[in-house]
Amino acid sequence: MTQRLCQLADLEATGSISFQVGEGDWPLRGFVARLPDGSGFRAWVNRCPHARHPLDLLPGRFLTADGQWIQCSSHGALFAPDTGICVAGPCVGKGLQSVPITVMGDEIRLAESSPNGDNARRSS
Ligand code: FES
Repeated sequence: MTQRLCQLADLEATGSISFQVGEGDWPLRGFVARLPDGSGFRAWVNRCPHARHPLDLLPGRFLTADGQWIQCSSHGALFAPDTGICVAGPCVGKGLQSVPITVMGDEIRLAESSPNGDNARRSS
């Protein structure tokens, strides 16, 4: 059984939600974000490639107000929500670390393995 990260309904209000897998000193801390075009979801490690801060110094806020970009609240870097690549800010060209996920029913779960190493598309 794979680890549940969130319910699809958890993404309705803001389009993203944080998660933690594991305990102790080094749990996996990440977040799931809905793609702006509604075609699927992506999950990323919650660590900015610029200064390695969590992206949500304002807890739980990962997206710009219009939901079009992932934004680091430390220094404002913007990341493409489908690729995780920084497109503006102090770390242009660097990327977020992908977390493989799968959609099962109304839940998003950590994928045990992913053939392309990344994220889930909505199956409608
Ligand atoms: S730590 Fe994210 S932009 Fe600086």
